[in-house]
Amino acid sequence: MIYNKTLSLSNGQNIPQMGFGTWLIPNDRVDIAVKNALTIGYRHIDTAQSYGNEEGVGKGLKASGLARGDVYVTTKVRAEYKNEKEAADSIEVSLQRLGLDYVDLLLIHSPQPWKYVNQSDNRFKEGNLAAWAAMEKAYKAGKVKAIGVSNFEIEDIENLITHAEIAPMVNQLLVHVSQTPIDLIDYCKQHQILVEGYSPMGHGRILANAVLQELAKKYKVSVAQLCIRYVWQLGLVVLPKAENPSHIEENGRIDFMISDADMDKLKAIHQPVDYGEDSHWPVYGGKVQG
Ligand SMILES: NC(=O)c1ccc[n+]([C@@H]2O[C@H](COP(=O)([O-])OP(=O)(O)OC[C@H]3O[C@@H](n4cnc5c(N)ncnc54)[C@H](OP(=O)(O)O)[C@@H]3O)[C@@H](O)[C@H]2O)c1
Repeated sequence: MIYNKTLSLSNGQNIPQMGFGTWLIPNDRVDIAVKNALTIGYRHIDTAQSYGNEEGVGKGLKASGLARGDVYVTTKVRAEYKNEKEAADSIEVSLQRLGLDYVDLLLIHSPQPWKYVNQSDNRFKEGNLAAWAAMEKAYKAGKVKAIGVSNFEIEDIENLITHAEIAPMVNQLLVHVSQTPIDLIDYCKQHQILVEGYSPMGHGRILANAVLQELAKKYKVSVAQLCIRYVWQLGLVVLPKAENPSHIEENGRIDFMISDADMDKLKAIHQPVDYGEDSHWPVYGGKVQG
């Protein structure tokens, strides 16, 4: 039920609402995690060129024995590729590494190359249009079934909507309790852009939160399940990552309802999160050195 639930994109295609994240799972281990997830019932795998694990993801897809049409696969063009040729070439390499003749969804990983994130006001508008042109061509050629963006703010999306031929269908964003970008989510909804929430457990850093622990007790679920269900009930695609098989299984058991009052309570939490040793990642506010 949870794994089969889909949401629709502006091009009429369906996307499974529950996804499986693979960031930081090494290439030589990710096949096992992907196969475990698919065996349990997940039908949507999220990877990226910069994760360095597309080959392993492809291996896991094959090992699952599932038909190609039964699994939804997303990858992302490197944030650094801001010209058409680099982006176009990278799409071919991704297909080759994944061992697929198409991907279901392709995203621009970030509007800014990572070393500019949290460091510069340059939004790389020309560069994003160039990368997007390559993605539009791949979409028209049937190599990718949908195209979108990640970590895009309103001005970045407007650049594409105004100047490109095809509007983005998806925006993948950091969304978890205490990090709910309501204005951006609403803007995306108004423009028929489906939002996907990444790091639903705050990269594992919000699981010790006392308010969440109390609420999880009330619903007789784990804090991880509460966190995942929260993003699910916002109406977003949710992308939990887990390598531990019992976590993978637990994270799919979110067939319960958070009340409207508790959703409001969770939305109102704005406590800054300490991402600890993971704070250096640009997506958590860190800066790339050099
Ligand atoms: N577009 C972007 O820029 C971007 C950025 C970040 C993430 N993402 C995507 O979103 C996915 C998820 O985000 P994330 O990996 O940052 O973080 P996350 O899913 O919020 O948290 C993952 C962490 O939580 C742990 N965990 C998972 N299930 C658990 C459970 N039931 N109980 C206790 N701990 C649990 C995992 O441990 P184990 O692995 O040991 O099970 C791991 O340490 C990524 O893998 C990636 O696909 C995209």
